[in-house]
Amino acid sequence: MKRILTGDRPTGLLHLGHYIGSLSNRVKLQDQYECFVIIADLHLLTTKPSKEDILQARTHIHEMVLDYLACGIDPAKSTIYLQSAVPAVYELNLFFEMMVSLNRLAGLPSLKEMARNAHIEPESMPFGLIGYPVLQSADIMIAKAEIVPVGKDNEAHIELTRDIVRRFNMLYGEVFPLPEALLSSIPNLVGTDGKGKMSKSAGNCIFLSDDAKTVEKKVQTMYTDPHRIHANVPGTVEGNPVFDYLNAFFDRPSELDELKRRYREGTVADIEVKTVLKEALNRFLAPIREKRAHFAAEKGVVEKIIYAGTLKMQEVSEATLKEVRSAMGISGTWNKISRVART
Ligand code: TRP
Repeated sequence: MKRILTGDRPTGLLHLGHYIGSLSNRVKLQDQYECFVIIADLHLLTTKPSKEDILQARTHIHEMVLDYLACGIDPAKSTIYLQSAVPAVYELNLFFEMMVSLNRLAGLPSLKEMARNAHIEPESMPFGLIGYPVLQSADIMIAKAEIVPVGKDNEAHIELTRDIVRRFNMLYGEVFPLPEALLSSIPNLVGTDGKGKMSKSAGNCIFLSDDAKTVEKKVQTMYTDPHRIHANVPGTVEGNPVFDYLNAFFDRPSELDELKRRYREGTVADIEVKTVLKEALNRFLAPIREKRAHFAAEKGVVEKIIYAGTLKMQEVSEATLKEVRSAMGISGTWNKISRVART
């Protein structure tokens, strides 16, 4: 069975955009592949290194894993683990740092964007942030994962991983497989403000853990075709966030077609369309909320899942690292010194 590795930085609660873009896919993939899900808390340090950030990440990790479980990521099928508790990855990261030029890293638009979002000036880019994709390569290769489901923004990082692997294998022999990115074919879900993709920093999210009342309120104030606020005139369905959400979450296709037809004609009020959306979202979220509450009520269950997953990953990664050190000749040098020193 081929191995998959994917995951997230623990930034807090997950939302509908995460569900559409990655979580739903992971739930499917776990039946076909051996799956590892990384909680990338070391990557979080690249833009959030303060002690306060680190302490806050503990809560975020707990919430994020609750969201994973609520959506159907099954710890019996997917190994959920904590990156910072896998020391082998720190070491592989160092070896990988020798396989790539600074120029190659400096050209990556994803890093510039991360710096911009974190209000970091280009001149003050931390070394660790420039190394973000190298650490990501180490995550992937410490598990010898062949398939990496990621968003478009991470595609270049997988390309870089391939370059690192080619170089490493050329220098030391065929240790690693060449990984491939698995990109989601679904476009990013727009935020409730209709301005850009749903994201926590933009404050335009519907969270998987929002209760029914909160969802209703958020839909009520959602951006829709601005020409239709005061009157029932023909409206635009394409690019209208309300219909984007209905396309993604409304489970009654024939009713949706009818609704679109009436919207284009101008014979349905926004309020009616929004009511349909509120109900559809709450129908979709009800079982997720229920599952989340179930896991949240059992004290220590999230921690047990992360603990078991991390122990498993520690084993996998130690085996890879042993092979790496041996291929590089590093363990041989130490063995020789130890032998001589003891006699
Ligand atoms: N870079 C991913 C993000 O945007 C998180 C991540 C870290 C990751 N290591 C990974 C994803 C390895 C896939 C594989 O949050």
